Amino acid sequence: MLQDRYRPNFHFTPQQQWMNDPNGLVYFQGEYHLFYQYHPDGTTWGPMHWGHAISKDLVSWDHMPVALEPDEHGYIFSGSAVVDWEDTSGFFGGGAGLVAIFTHHDNAGENGSVRERQSLAYSSDSGRTWTKYSGNPVLADTRFPDFRDPKVFWHTKSKRWIMILASGQTVSIYHSPNLKEWTFASQFGEGEGSHIGVWECPDLFELPVDGDPSHTKWVMLVSIGNAPEYPEGSRTQYFIGQFNGTEFKNDDAAESVRWLDGGRDNYAGVSWSDLPAEDGRRIYIGWLSNWKYAQVTPTEGWRSAMTLPRTLGLRSRANRILLVQRPVQELDQWKTDTMQWNDLLIEPGYNPLSGLALTSFMLEAEFELQTATEFGFKVRTSKEYETVVGYLAEAQELFVDRTQSGKTDFHTDFPGRHAVEAEAVDGRLVLRIWVDRCSVEVFAGEGEAVITDLLFPIDEQPGLAVYAKHGNVRLASLSISSIFV
Ligand code: FRU
Repeated sequence: MLQDRYRPNFHFTPQQQWMNDPNGLVYFQGEYHLFYQYHPDGTTWGPMHWGHAISKDLVSWDHMPVALEPDEHGYIFSGSAVVDWEDTSGFFGGGAGLVAIFTHHDNAGENGSVRERQSLAYSSDSGRTWTKYSGNPVLADTRFPDFRDPKVFWHTKSKRWIMILASGQTVSIYHSPNLKEWTFASQFGEGEGSHIGVWECPDLFELPVDGDPSHTKWVMLVSIGNAPEYPEGSRTQYFIGQFNGTEFKNDDAAESVRWLDGGRDNYAGVSWSDLPAEDGRRIYIGWLSNWKYAQVTPTEGWRSAMTLPRTLGLRSRANRILLVQRPVQELDQWKTDTMQWNDLLIEPGYNPLSGLALTSFMLEAEFELQTATEFGFKVRTSKEYETVVGYLAEAQELFVDRTQSGKTDFHTDFPGRHAVEAEAVDGRLVLRIWVDRCSVEVFAGEGEAVITDLLFPIDEQPGLAVYAKHGNVRLASLSISSIFV
């Protein structure tokens, strides 16, 4: 169907209408729940509901009925969900159940201004139906008109619930014994990191460094809303530091900024709660769009996808610790028609992939740098169009150039080139590139450099090329797989 030419094959999209942030990510009884900001009556943002989908493998999703609808306290903005294993809330008669913690947004503040307060809903039937708590809202603070997007987790050491939420251009941290009564613990962010827009959708979790459970750090994700004067639009920063159950301390100098993604289309991402301890992963998903142009992208009947679900980790490099991201291994089972090459010498003008036609695929390449100053791939190409995924050897820079990627004229800030530093270790560079019907996601090395970008190829643009400029590069290995879910 022409109207579905951009409908991804292996990324989550709503069946119809508008979607933004992922919400309420929780794993329970063998099921991954994905809720999301949803407007059931239009393909642009509107009165927010929580849409819902369930998956057993994070890749193939069943669409569920809308979980939460606006009520007398307002729209249902972003938030999280947890398993209340010990029934601390008293909602479950002593058993375990799901509790969603979200923001109620209305205009009932002073003189009709925005008011944002935190509320609860619970489910005793594995997320199929939800009851709003009669004591809503459970947390308000009139000092902040922007006071939203609660992310809650159980903090084992202090044996209490922690909530982190966005408050203006800071985050506030609260604790609770029962999810209903919240006590202020601390505020973080004054003078720290980037302040080019309102802070949104924070997350906070502990990760081992280089997989060593005795050496851990806490990671804080903070999305930053669209500031019209910046072409980057909305994007996500992260901090690495310590959290003692009350306060978060940033390991970096206050003014330094770390971005989660070098591309434009990874926003409002957060991680799944309650993965079994034996799984051990921290899995993240983001909204594959940007507030800059999210409401005018050229899809019909539905709007927005999620990024691929990604496993997060921390790796030490020289004297720095970096957050790394890799698409979840569950995706591998959906690969088909894998082709493999070894030891190809790529010279300017030589494209061994010229006969291929692929629109939903992943490729994994290991390059050995030689004399080429620039090399990489061109994906979704035709005579006129291409998206370049390239590497500049001297600058050690990975980039995606979507200037000629297809339909780009729906917003002046959409076409462009997005770059990020990526180190070639011992003269070798590994690239993993995932291309779907309206996106490209590039992971360099172990996932320390990532670019996530939307694309809207015009007609049939299924071509693929590997290229080198001003010299040669050795392609030590290349595999390409189609992906159909
Ligand atoms: C982020 C955000 C959140 C808010 C939601 C409203 O994209 O602005 O801060 O809860 O979207 O839909």
